[in-house]
Amino acid sequence: MSESPDRERTAQVRIEQLREQIRRHDHHYYVLDTPLISDQEYDALYHELEALESGFPNLVTADSPTQRIGEKALKASDATITHEPPLYSLGNTYSEAELRQFAERLHKQLAPEPVTYVAELKLDGASVSVAYAAGSLSWAATRGDGRTGDVITAAVRTIRTLPLRLTEPATVVVRGEVVMAREDFHRLNETRRSEDEQPFANPRNAASGTLKLLDPQSVARRRLQLLFYNLTGGDTHWEGLQRLEQLGLPVIPVRIRTDDLEEVIEFCRRWETERDTLPWEIDGVVVKVDSCAQQERLGFTSKAPRWAIAYKFKAEQARTRLLGISLQVGRTGVVTPVAELEPVFLMGSTIARATLHNQEEIGRRDLRPGCLVFVEKGGDVIPKVTGPAEDTAVYPPFEMPAVCPVCDTSLVREEEEVAWRCPNYDCPAQVRERIRHFVSRGAMDLEGLGEVLVDKLVANNLVRDYLDIYSLQASDLSGLEGLGDVSIANLLQAIDDSRRRPLHRLLFALGIRYVGITAARTLVGACGGLRELAQASEAELIAIPDIGPRTAASVHAFFASPDGARVLERLDATGFSLSAVESAPTAGGPFANQRIVLTGTLRELSREQAREEIERRGGIVAGSVSRKTDLVVCGVDPGGKYRRALELGIRIINEEEFLAVIGG
Ligand code: IVH
Repeated sequence: MSESPDRERTAQVRIEQLREQIRRHDHHYYVLDTPLISDQEYDALYHELEALESGFPNLVTADSPTQRIGEKALKASDATITHEPPLYSLGNTYSEAELRQFAERLHKQLAPEPVTYVAELKLDGASVSVAYAAGSLSWAATRGDGRTGDVITAAVRTIRTLPLRLTEPATVVVRGEVVMAREDFHRLNETRRSEDEQPFANPRNAASGTLKLLDPQSVARRRLQLLFYNLTGGDTHWEGLQRLEQLGLPVIPVRIRTDDLEEVIEFCRRWETERDTLPWEIDGVVVKVDSCAQQERLGFTSKAPRWAIAYKFKAEQARTRLLGISLQVGRTGVVTPVAELEPVFLMGSTIARATLHNQEEIGRRDLRPGCLVFVEKGGDVIPKVTGPAEDTAVYPPFEMPAVCPVCDTSLVREEEEVAWRCPNYDCPAQVRERIRHFVSRGAMDLEGLGEVLVDKLVANNLVRDYLDIYSLQASDLSGLEGLGDVSIANLLQAIDDSRRRPLHRLLFALGIRYVGITAARTLVGACGGLRELAQASEAELIAIPDIGPRTAASVHAFFASPDGARVLERLDATGFSLSAVESAPTAGGPFANQRIVLTGTLRELSREQAREEIERRGGIVAGSVSRKTDLVVCGVDPGGKYRRALELGIRIINEEEFLAVIGG
């Protein structure tokens, strides 16, 4: 269908209006933190724009708010940018005395002129440079070695606090810091732990790690933030920052301008004690000379400007006694040494235990049971034992036992791994952790089976592994404290129902090392069933897109082992369907090959459950409504997707109708 020039002109005008409005609301929401409209009103604008752009694809521009997140994963690229002028770093001080010396030097060099200082927070993240050409975002790059940095434009574009278009058609290069808020950092690490991936040590590592990801969608999910602190040109640094704000850019919010050094020092003290009240981490205060003319006269050393200095905070530390080192056995058998500490109060909480990671780490830090140690809080608020606080010679060094502390099996260590593992699949500690994982929310989701009950079942020898759960009888449970007849009946029903969970959730629940929910979905999608997966060679598994060699080796080893083979046979005998096809009717399913969109809140089902019901019946759940959408399922308070479906004349059903189709 070709559009008339008139309609196109009208669309163009409306598109421009919408983009303006959306940019303004983005700025108010993400930068100023004072939204002017509700989420729903915003969604309506956004979807109207999406709809117009999909009708007139030739009117889409790279700086349209709809183009923030690229659809496709990028190929690894080695594009670089040469920083002109180079990005200098900062000299550090760790004491007020050094800060006073810095001020004295400035006064000497600039006398008789007075000096005005700007003091601002020093964000602890990843340093980037961002360029706008005629007001549109043109590229973003890492600091790199200060002379050349890597191009990371696609990742940086996903950062919601960053405008794709400035309020004026200015051409500028600005410098800032990409950070991850503590809250987002904790959530990310929680997910990583549940997927058996190494958590990030602190928000800084998480931020720079995220910038390296090639898939813009994954970057967007991690919710990075970008705050600017520098614009060259202009008369003073302070005005430069105001200019950045005028252009619509987010600027490090806390700063002062003063010619009184005591006020600067007061600012440093204040933020050293109040740093925890900020949403992201800071590691100090940067003190800068305000006047650009003076900055120029002072110039640079080979590494850093003479007109600025970083006052770095001391890491918060406490001293306490390392009472002993205990060993924890995880669900995959990894044995982790844990410091048992004399309880000590640090930054708002009492610390009594801290992971020591592995034996090497203990040796490297010379941590010996009995000695006094320093404890610090890392970014994760997870305490870290950094080293001895006294001469350790009198204490015997820690030795890793040769056998599992729980089941006495000899520990093994795989090549190139630092961790020791208990190889006994039936080790009670592993069994307990494995069952806890099996019943957990993202896995089989057996709500009635909490940790306390799992521990009781294991202690009473009622279950020796997760599949024993399916042989439990009411009479087994009736003897257990705190379980009445009704709870027992409900629990047994829930256990029975869980046999019908989608196959990828079952695979995830098995607790195979490195197989998180995403890998499980990919593996099931590629192989079709657990038997096929078990028979696949390591090479075949590696050939599956998104499955890495580590995961492939782990899956192969699991199913090749007698324990894995036994699990597979028992699953079959327990009444699980081992094939994804059987649990997802194909051509005949009521939603076969239909593209379905969910909008609004459903009362009876969670989003994830609704998705599973649709997928099990052959449908595909899509995130947004387009001409290709076959059906929209509409709950309470639907957003712009509903309006868009109306416009496009797509079939819409409510929750009751949906439940009737799925027979719920
Ligand atoms: S000014 C030429 N201001 O600290 C002076 N840096 O240099 C350039 N940083 O990686 C630096 N917050 O990314 C400046 N308010 C701030 C800052 C800041 C964080 C980072 C910067 C650089 C590191 C040390």
